Amino acid sequence: MKSGSTSKKPGITALLSPEESNRFNKRVVRFIVTEATIGRLKKQIELNYPDLAIIRIQSHNVHLVNELYSSFPEVFFGDCIVEYRIDLEKIFDTEKYFSTDLDIFIGEENHFGELDQLVSEAFSNYENHYSHNPVLKEFDLIPVYQEWVRSSVTSEDKICLLFFSNEVLCGFFTAERSGSIFRGLLAGVAPQHQRSGVFRQIIRSVKSIFRENGATEIVTNVLLENLPVHKVLQNEGFLISNSFFTIHLNLRTSHSRPPSRRWAKTFKALTPSPTRRRSRLAETTENIY
Ligand SMILES: CC(C)(COP(=O)(O)OP(=O)(O)OC[C@H]1O[C@@H](n2cnc3c(N)ncnc32)[C@H](O)[C@@H]1OP(=O)(O)O)[C@@H](O)C(=O)NCCC(=O)NCCS
Repeated sequence: MKSGSTSKKPGITALLSPEESNRFNKRVVRFIVTEATIGRLKKQIELNYPDLAIIRIQSHNVHLVNELYSSFPEVFFGDCIVEYRIDLEKIFDTEKYFSTDLDIFIGEENHFGELDQLVSEAFSNYENHYSHNPVLKEFDLIPVYQEWVRSSVTSEDKICLLFFSNEVLCGFFTAERSGSIFRGLLAGVAPQHQRSGVFRQIIRSVKSIFRENGATEIVTNVLLENLPVHKVLQNEGFLISNSFFTIHLNLRTSHSRPPSRRWAKTFKALTPSPTRRRSRLAETTENIY
């Protein structure tokens, strides 16, 4: 392996995921693929020797998904994610300021109890790409989502908006700020308030509030099957800008047959503590999507 070649190559970004590695007690490496041949992708995977590779591939590269299935023994289709964007500068030329009956607050640490409760109720039946990997299937996602929402309250570059109806917390929306672009991370509505237009009000409010706070664009991801979210985003002026497949490869610990000669060589070369290589791999910040 060449020095410095592991973390980034045009079209493939490999990032060690410390939170997921810790969570699953495996070396988890995330790969973001915009453009690659299967040969280059396999090489990048081999160079980073993950136990679990979580690969996000732009959907126009669907051929890579087929090629991964024929190249590795334990491949699982995790999910399909749709990315939406809204240009707030364009929208607000034509839209009037929106008002809502819900009371809106910025989340603070004293809200953690209510927030944890809301997240555990809203996400009780929620499935993400972990759920489609048999090795991770039994994993309880709720504490992870709770922690992720809490981190949006405590991180300086994130925001958590809380929505109350008659003083009861009924919904939340978290986002990460990067300059004038706000990235929606997670949202949820309490089950007893679902299907009564709360999420629609949340999205309308978020557009106004973010715009007032300097946002020119909001970007957010949604699972293909989450129809209520698609419906609201489409109606509220968001446009689909991209889509991705998430693929899991269970490697090393469970596979019995190396998928290529290169793998066999890599395994032979592995020492029990390959610290030097690990340190060169950039790390990803937690993103449960
Ligand atoms: C997805 C979710 C946010 C929707 O919130 P909500 O407040 O119930 O949504 P709304 O009431 O604003 O409904 C939006 C639209 O979707 C429809 N809808 C809502 N839930 C639906 C369901 N379960 N099945 C079919 N349609 C549904 C509504 O009828 C409405 O359509 P309409 O405008 O034609 O009437 C909420 O169900 C939830 O928190 N789910 C679990 C967590 C989650 O999926 N979070 C989002 C991804 S991070």
